[in-house]
Amino acid sequence: MTGGAGFIGSHLCDRLMRENPSKLVVFDDFSLGKMRNLSSIRDDRRVSVFRRDARSYKELEDAMVDQSIDVVFNLAVIPLPMSLELPMETVMTNIEITTNVCELLRKEKFETLVHCSSSEAYGTALYVPMDEAHPENPLTPYAASKIACDQVAVSFFKTFGLDISVARPFNTYGPRQNEKSYAGVIPLTIQRLLKGEAPMIYGDGKQTRDYSYVADTVEGIVGVFSCLDAKGRVVNIASGKEVSIMTLIKKIVKTMGYTGEIVHKPARPGDVLRHKGDISLARKLFDYAPRTGFDEGLKKTVDWYVRELKSPSAS
Ligand SMILES: NC(=O)c1ccc[n+]([C@@H]2O[C@H](COP(=O)([O-])OP(=O)(O)OC[C@H]3O[C@@H](n4cnc5c(N)ncnc54)[C@H](O)[C@@H]3O)[C@@H](O)[C@H]2O)c1
Repeated sequence: MTGGAGFIGSHLCDRLMRENPSKLVVFDDFSLGKMRNLSSIRDDRRVSVFRRDARSYKELEDAMVDQSIDVVFNLAVIPLPMSLELPMETVMTNIEITTNVCELLRKEKFETLVHCSSSEAYGTALYVPMDEAHPENPLTPYAASKIACDQVAVSFFKTFGLDISVARPFNTYGPRQNEKSYAGVIPLTIQRLLKGEAPMIYGDGKQTRDYSYVADTVEGIVGVFSCLDAKGRVVNIASGKEVSIMTLIKKIVKTMGYTGEIVHKPARPGDVLRHKGDISLARKLFDYAPRTGFDEGLKKTVDWYVRELKSPSAS
């Protein structure tokens, strides 16, 4: 798995270990990933962790040949906020990683690729719920790079008849989401509140997102992998519900017992205004049904960060 020490990747590792694989290989440069995210599996003799750069075709190839891998889940990525500061590096890196993986599949270094896309590919909703036929309209270099990666993956399916499918998660939240540089709104807000700072909202807060708890996203990615009819397709993974950023912040504030003010900041460039996914295809293909309600998932997430960020060993 590329990006296996990251947020979604590490949960996917935990989930895959429940399938009792003969081995699991994590490939991550640890730019944002953490060894700590793998603490539940890293002592298992079937797990190997490579601290390497997936931009290097050679490093990926060496690891694959050495380990004789069947399936690659491709999750390594430069995240959205970084693309606002380093657009060229984000675009080049994301496309290079995915093209390397596709080319290694073409060279028969492994057999099956599940590539991880993002709902950012759609941009702001033109209609809801957003199905896979919704136009792609990238608002950031990150979104553009994700579309390019998906297109490379699907083109390798069409041109070379390779075993490739694409899971397209909407926003995902839960324990282990990176809380440091380029963090998302949920870990950032929890962290600000723990430090005694006011939560911040960019823009009017009416922008919406479709949030899935990470265990549901991971179940969707496994569903895409297991489904023969998903080959060569892009499949949405979402909750099918939308929540505004204002509502989200108010829920976090309430859960954490904060009673102070909420600071408003100007809207950020490239902020999607509305997202609500249509999961009919995933439901039809592999009976996909998200299990964790938003309030339940948010409570688990807040509890986890409060524990982690207060613990002296947090790093
Ligand atoms: N988090 C979300 O809300 C969300 C939503 C939709 C799609 N996605 C997609 O899910 C996937 C995983 O995202 P995430 O949120 O877990 O991100 P993350 O930043 O937590 O994980 C990405 C991992 O990739 C690693 N990485 C970055 N560059 C690398 C390189 N050159 N070589 C090797 N490893 C490298 C990082 O160290 C990190 O561990 C990505 O493809 C992302 O686009 C995420």
